[in-house]
Amino acid sequence: MTLKLLLINGPNLNLLGTREPEIYGAETLPELVTAVQTYASEKGVELRHFQSNSEGELVTAVQEARHWADGIMINAGAYTHTSVAIRDAIAGVARPTVELHISNVHAREPFRHHSYLAPVCLGVIAGFGRNSYFLAVDALLGHIKISHAD
Ligand code: DQA
Repeated sequence: MTLKLLLINGPNLNLLGTREPEIYGAETLPELVTAVQTYASEKGVELRHFQSNSEGELVTAVQEARHWADGIMINAGAYTHTSVAIRDAIAGVARPTVELHISNVHAREPFRHHSYLAPVCLGVIAGFGRNSYFLAVDALLGHIKISHAD
């Protein structure tokens, strides 16, 4: 059975490539997503992607993942630091979830140091640039394989 993962990107990540490239890099979101999907497919994993700038749409995407996804990776952007609703959705669907960030949020402004999502996620990957996405795939797959081996 093919494992299915959902990758969610939140607000302003659609601007990757032109948005503060000194922090977020020069690669566009479609380029990055294609590379991560290729990486996942080489591991026999189907990776679906959803991006939205809207908090409610992100909540709905997490909720709908309960019907089909084995795990979730989420870069919730600024909603990481503000959204009780996305946190409650992650807790509510009970799917293993990895929070990820391109930048090292702990080396930036204090308002980026707190995450509403982290306590209901498996763990957090932050600060590795585009590699944060690939590391998130490995982290989630490692967790799912270990929990299925029990
Ligand atoms: C981000 C970090 C957030 O603080 C910021 O609001 C983003 C991107 C990252 O990937 O580094 O939009 O999630």
